[in-house]
This record gives sequence, C-alpha cells and structure tokens, in this order.
Amino acid sequence: MGRVTELSQYGPWAVIAGGSEGVGAEFADRLAAAGINLVLIARKPEPLERTAQACRAHGVDVRTITADLTDPAATEAIAAATADLEVGLLIYNAGANTASDEFLDGDLADFARVIELNINAPMRLVQHYGRGMRERRRGGILLVGSMAGYLGSVRHTIYGGVKAFGRIFAEGLWLELREYNVHVLELVLGVTRTPAMERVGLNFDVPGMKVAEPADVAREGLEQLANGPVFIAGGNAADVERRNNPDRAKVVLGTHRFMQQLIGQG
Ligand SMILES: NC(=O)c1ccc[n+]([C@@H]2O[C@H](COP(=O)([O-])OP(=O)(O)OC[C@H]3O[C@@H](n4cnc5c(N)ncnc54)[C@H](OP(=O)(O)O)[C@@H]3O)[C@@H](O)[C@H]2O)c1
Repeated sequence: MGRVTELSQYGPWAVIAGGSEGVGAEFADRLAAAGINLVLIARKPEPLERTAQACRAHGVDVRTITADLTDPAATEAIAAATADLEVGLLIYNAGANTASDEFLDGDLADFARVIELNINAPMRLVQHYGRGMRERRRGGILLVGSMAGYLGSVRHTIYGGVKAFGRIFAEGLWLELREYNVHVLELVLGVTRTPAMERVGLNFDVPGMKVAEPADVAREGLEQLANGPVFIAGGNAADVERRNNPDRAKVVLGTHRFMQQLIGQG
C-alpha cells in the first residue's frame, strides 16, 4: 500500500538503461503514454528503434542511444547525449545474468561484465542523474532487481551477489534522498517472460513455476515508485519472506532442491 504515484512528477525526461525490450520497453510505453519524453539505451539498434517509434506515437520526444553499459566509457557518451535535458527519472533495467558457469570454472572477465552491468554502471548513472534530481528536489530512481539477490544459488554466485548489492544500494539511497523528494525503488522480479530469457531458452511452461508478464511488473514498478525502498513484483512477497529466514543452510538447500525438482533435475 502507500501513495499512488503520479507519473508527471518525474518528467519532463526519463532515461531507461535497457529500454528496448521486455520490461524496459513496457516502462517506456507507460511513461510515453503519460507524456514523459524518453531516452532509451540498449546495445541492439533494431529493437531500440522499434520501441522508440512506438513511444513517439504517443506524441512524446524519444532519443535512442546505442551503447554497451559494460563499457565504462558508455556513461560519458550517455551524459553528453543528454546534457541539454532535465532528467527527472532514471530507470536501470539492464542486468540479466550473462555468466552462468560454476564459479571455479568460469572466466573472471565474464563475471566482471556482470559486475560492471549491475554495480558500476548503475552507480555511475545514479550519481550523474541523481545529483540533478537532488538539486531540483524532485525525481525518481528505479533499479530492477531479482529474487536471485535474496539467496545463493548454483551458477548464480556472482549474479545473486550483484542483485543483493542493488537492493542494499537502493535502500541506502532511498534514505539519503528522502528529504530531497527523490523517490528510490528497487523493483524485485521473479521469473518474467522477457525476450532475453526467451533467447536463452528458459522454459516458462514448467508446472508450478510462477511467470510474470513484463507489462504487469512494469506497471507495478511505476505504481510503487513513491513507496520505496523495495517492492516485490508479481505476488512473490511470501517467497521472499521465506528466503530471508536466518537459517541459511535450510533456505539455500531447500530452494536449490525445489528448483532442481521444478526443472526436472531432482
Ligand atoms: N526475465 C527474468 O526472468 C528476470 C528475473 C529476475 C530479474 N530480472 C531482471 O530484470 C531486468 C531485465 O531483464 P531481461 O530479462 O529483460 O534481460 P536484459 O538482458 O537485462 O535486457 C533488458 C534490456 O537491457 C538491455 N541490455 C542488456 N544488456 C545490456 C548492456 N550490456 N548494455 C546496454 N543495454 C543492455 C537489453 O537490450 P540489448 O540486449 O539490445 O542491449 C534490453 O533492452 C534485469 O535487471 C534482470 O536482472 C529478470
């Protein structure tokens, strides 16, 4: 519960890092429909341009930036391309896992890209756009998190860790920016039917698996933006409560076994 978020307070421009597809494209659509101009960032130009065109049909201005957020130089290019804009909302959505080896067998450079995308790049963008928001005493920062950030799991040693970082980072920021009327929210997702997950072949049809739709979780996130620091999307709050149990062996092993059964490896 809490306040209903009036989106116009986050204009006139919103930046969406990872704004071309899935949840990011749904954020873009809702914000455009509310009259907020957009800067959309992603690597692949075609989906980026498609989403931009769809948003322009709502009558707003849309800029696209093709950039790889794991490249530290990307932030400077993004800052330069938006220097003339008043950015009232930053959504950091990019961040799915790209390194799924067991830790000792993985390549450290691959893990470092997961860290760059989920820790260093959001830190840089939050500092850049957040300073302007604090100065103007209004704005919003929404970071997309994951249920994976509540417990350790195999092949997610680094991904789980960076998603835990995102949530704690959001909580601290929320406290620091409260008095400036800058709203901070970590939107925690469970399994969500995004193009990225479809491409890696995630089976959404496993009986018993709860799957959210991108449009639904994006709507929830924008509705809850003023009610930070954390919102668990998709009706997964009870599961998160279980994951917070202080008996870590019980939680970590129990969830591991449950997941193995769910995906037929138990
Ligand atoms: N889908 C799920 O089941 C699920 C579950 C829990 C949490 N989440 C979280 O939800 C968020 C969105 O996930 P997703 O499944 O949609 O996958 P994603 O790979 O994070 O893609 C989301 C958006 O980010 C862009 N992107 C990805 N990597 C990028 C990079 N290095 N530089 C610039 N843009 C980049 C993508 O476009 P390009 O590929 O063209 O760059 C796309 O527009 C992530 O933070 C993820 O951790 C997802």
